[in-house]
This record gives sequence, C-alpha cells and structure tokens, in this order.
Amino acid sequence: MDYGEFINELLKRSDIIKLISRYTPLTKKGGTYWGCCPFHHEKTPSFTVSEDRGLYHCFGCKAGGNVINFVSEIESVDKSEAIRILAKEAGLEVPQFKAGNKDYALEAKKRERLYKLMRDAARHYHENLYLPAASGARDYLKRREVGENLVKRFGLGYSVSGNEMILYLKGLGYTVSEMKDAGIAAQRADEYYDVFYGRLIFPIINNMGEVVSFGGRVLVNNPDFAKYRNGSQTIIFDKSRNIYAVNLLKKKKQTSGLSYIIMTEGYMDVISLHKAGFDMAVASMGTSLTSVQAKLLKNYCERIYISYDGDGAGQKATLRGLDILSEAGLNVKVVQLPDGLDPDDVIKKHGAEFYKKLLNEAVTLTRFKINNLAKKYDLAQSDEKAKFAVEASKIIKALPNPVEHEEYLTLVHKLTGYTMESLYRQTELTPLPEKSEPEKPQSRPAQNIDPSLRFVLASVLAQKPYCDYTLDVFPYLDGELPRRIYEWGLSGFKSGQKRGLAEFFEETPEEDKQLLNELVGYPFLDGDGSDKYRECVRALSISNLNARKAALAKRFDETKDMKLLREISELDKKLKTIRQGDDA
Ligand code: UTP
Ligand code: MN
Repeated sequence: MDYGEFINELLKRSDIIKLISRYTPLTKKGGTYWGCCPFHHEKTPSFTVSEDRGLYHCFGCKAGGNVINFVSEIESVDKSEAIRILAKEAGLEVPQFKAGNKDYALEAKKRERLYKLMRDAARHYHENLYLPAASGARDYLKRREVGENLVKRFGLGYSVSGNEMILYLKGLGYTVSEMKDAGIAAQRADEYYDVFYGRLIFPIINNMGEVVSFGGRVLVNNPDFAKYRNGSQTIIFDKSRNIYAVNLLKKKKQTSGLSYIIMTEGYMDVISLHKAGFDMAVASMGTSLTSVQAKLLKNYCERIYISYDGDGAGQKATLRGLDILSEAGLNVKVVQLPDGLDPDDVIKKHGAEFYKKLLNEAVTLTRFKINNLAKKYDLAQSDEKAKFAVEASKIIKALPNPVEHEEYLTLVHKLTGYTMESLYRQTELTPLPEKSEPEKPQSRPAQNIDPSLRFVLASVLAQKPYCDYTLDVFPYLDGELPRRIYEWGLSGFKSGQKRGLAEFFEETPEEDKQLLNELVGYPFLDGDGSDKYRECVRALSISNLNARKAALAKRFDETKDMKLLREISELDKKLKTIRQGDDA
C-alpha cells in the first residue's frame, strides 16, 4: 500500500459523523449534519459536516477539512499524530511509507512504544508510593492535605531509588535508550539512573489520555535542587504545547460541561483547586503561555480565568502569555490574589468560598494591566501621575473598540483625576459618538479571488449538474489550485464517477486549504444555475484575457519586441470571439 492508498483507506474507514459528534452534537437536516462549531463559540449552529464528502466546514469561522484536519486541529497535534490516532481507531496499521522526509510509520511506532512505556512507568511510580520506602512522600502529601482520592485522580507516585524504575522497565522489555527517549533515564558515566529519584511524581497526561511526561517535586526544599523537575522534551512531550490536567478538563467537558477554565501556574494549585471543587483548573507548568496552548484551551472553552501567584501575573513574560490567549480569541479574566499567595495558599488560608469571591471579582486583562501599571507609580506625585496616564493611554489605544476606550479611559480618569477630554486627546482617539457595532465573530480573512472564478470553482467542487464542460475554462485558470479543481471535476464528469472530496482535500497543500475550504462552503443561492455559470465563465475568460493582454503590453513597453504585438492581437481576436458569442 502506498501513502495515497493508505490515506484514502483511512479516510474511507473513519466515521466523520461519529468522530465529530464526540466534540459537538450534530443533527441531520437534509443531507447535511449541523451543529455548533467546536472551534469557536456560537449559540446557533453554523458548523456543517457532510458524510458523503467526508468534510466539515464552519460558515462562521471558516474552519474546515477532512477527519485528519479535524483531529489535528481539535487535539492540537501534528498531522502524523492525527493519522496515528485515526489509524488506531479504525484498526489500521500505519504502513511503512515516507512522505517528504517524514517516516510516518516509524514515527507512529516509536510514539506508541513511548506511550506504553510512560503508562507502565506511571503505574509503577504510583504503586511505589505505597512502599515502606515511600513513607516520606506519603507524609509530605498528608502535610499538604492531599488525600487518597486526589492521589488516585492525579495518579501521583514516587520514585524510590536511582535505579528501581530502570530495572523494572528493563524487566518489561524496554531498553535504556527508550527510557532516555522518554525522558526518564539519564546517563552518568556508563550508568543509567532515574532522573526523578527521590521526587514525588505528577504524571502529565495529554488530551488523548496518554502519559507524556512527569513533573517531580523534591520532598524537602533545598537550594541545591530545582524544586520541580519536568521531564525533558521528547517526541511525545513538548511543555510549550501541553497543559497539566487537560485530560481532566476534557473529561469534565464531556460529562458535565464546562463554562470556564482556571489557569494556574503549578501542579499543587491544580490539585488544591480540584479538591475545593474547582475541577476545571489546569496549569501551564511554569512557562509563558503559547499560541498552541491557547488553541488547545479554546477547543474546550473560551472563558478563561488566569489565577497566577499574587505577584506572578504582572511579570512581563506572563503578560505576553496572556496577550497570546486574548489574541487567540479567548475571553481572558485575571483573578487578583493577595500578594505572595498562590491559589493553593489562598484556599488553605481562606477557604473555597473566598476563592469563589475572587473569581467573581476577576478583572479583564486590560483592567488588570492598568491596575498593575498603577502600582508602579506614586499617583500622589503629579509627574508620576502624568507618566502613568501616558503609559496607560498606550495600552488603551491598542484596543479595537470605542466602547473599550471609553471604559478604560474612565478608569484612568478615576485613578488620576485628568479630564476625559485630555485623556482622549492623549490617546489621539475620538470619544464615542453613539452606539458602536456589536462584536463580530472572529473569522479568518476571506481569500481574495475573482467572484466569477469563485462561483465556477465552487460549482465544479459541488459537482453541480449545470457545470458545462463544453465551455473550456481550463485555459483561463491561473494557479495550481483552480487548475486542480477543474481537472478533478472534469475527470469525474468524463468517467461518470465521483472522486471523494476528502481525498482531494488531503492532496491539497496547506497554503491552499483555506481557499479550498471557502469554495467547498460556497453559499449557493436558489436561483444559481446554468445561466449564472455561463455568465461567470465568460466574465472569467474576459478578465483573464485582459490581464494577459495588459502584461504583454507592459513587456512590450519595456522590450519593444514585435513578437509581443502579434501575441496581443491573438488575444484580441479571442476576446472578440467571446464578445461576439454574446451577441449571437
Ligand atoms: P511555584 O514555585 O509557584 O510552585 O512554581 P508551586 O506550584 O507553588 O509549588 P509548591 O506549592 O511549592 O509545591 C510553579 C510551577 O513552576 C514550575 C512547576 O510546574 C511549578 O508547579 N517549576 C517551579 C519548575 O518547573 N521548576 C521549579 O524549580 C519550580
Ligand atoms: Mn504553592
């Protein structure tokens, strides 16, 4: 089986309706399934799935593609991992093949093997927590009030010695080199040892439920050792793409629904919050948030509360991470914790009710930034106050909506006493005249192509019966994608057999997928038919010929090459024929 055949088989065997239904309920209307888009927040369905085409498309945010694209988007995994997941589900073995310089089969095998190793290791660390040698770890958990059910829920464990795990995994048939690849073993001289030795183990489980790494905490703080040690980057773990406890978030969404997410900094914050009933808490594992993480979170829920240490969220690197979330379209609020306390401390000290109150009082990212900025200046001093107002204006100016300008300038006005007029002048913004426009859903910008070409290509893709292949459109198509679409339609027409669109999609390069998507989701009107098709083909050929003429004329101006004139007059003849055709 070659790559193409395997992918086709995979697409054929994957049940797109069943798969997508796990993320959003779908209802069948006519030949199409409809639901609320799992990629952006909406209340009325604009997300469609076509069973026979094997494609999904959202009219709101323009997301779309086949099952492989769906899995890789929704689970934030790359294509080879999406293929592995789907193959596993369909009971297909990924065959030995290379696409580009990627050996998908080898990669899939290696990953499977590491997932299995990590699962075995996690189970064993957990068992070992109950050994006599782990009494220190159990005492530690008791001290931090982490009871048995939390230990189970988070699969906590303990590494009892430098080589116990190594020997155990060897016994199961794993090689030390695999343990190294998994980020568990490291080499000293010619000995391998467990990098988590003596540490309490927090398994990091991804959204597919696979253990991908571990966090290990020392039982006694000691300046000579990092308090936490995270597993190194491996082929199954990249800490900037993962989120601690995302597996529980997914489960919650699927069982009881999810109306918001709480983002914390650390493992213990997550555990403490879950204990207090906030079982939508996750952690970023001590790094600034990335756009991959933002996307992953957005697939679960768009409302996110940032709950970092009392003074942690104001750090520059952290603020950048919060901007990334907000740019990704998440609705970000910042929970303001008392200075020096993290969520774990707050709950221990003041209880769950108090934390709930802080959640309710959480502020928007902009308000947080302004409050945070205000702390850096002594607003009783007029020069400092002016500096603050200037800096705050910069933040406000960057906001897109006039209503937001007004809201935050009012805040600065209250903090400083400057008039709204001078604050508006400072920002070079104009005050809000009347009501502003409601927010539009975020959508990718539409691709800029000629409307006639758009209609023709969309009709061909939809295999509309009015597509008249006696009108030869091919010579007037520029670009790889339009030509491929037309050839695809033509070959289907000639053979009387329809080729699957999902396969076509698969063969389309990344950069063309958005346009293809838009064409697949073209909103045909009731009256659309052969007249419009013919009219569009005509408009398309005329504009194409004119563009070619203009290009030749320009070259002629530069080169004075007489041959070009002949070519121009050829084009003129063609144009004339097309125009005469209209009169006839
Ligand atoms: P904190 O130092 O705030 O840890 O680091 P914490 O969660 O409050 O830990 P406890 O309560 O003392 O147990 C926040 C996060 O940063 C990462 C970890 O993911 C930690 O949970 N971190 C911290 C490290 O990776 N290495 C470190 O040495 C320290
Ligand atoms: Mn803590």
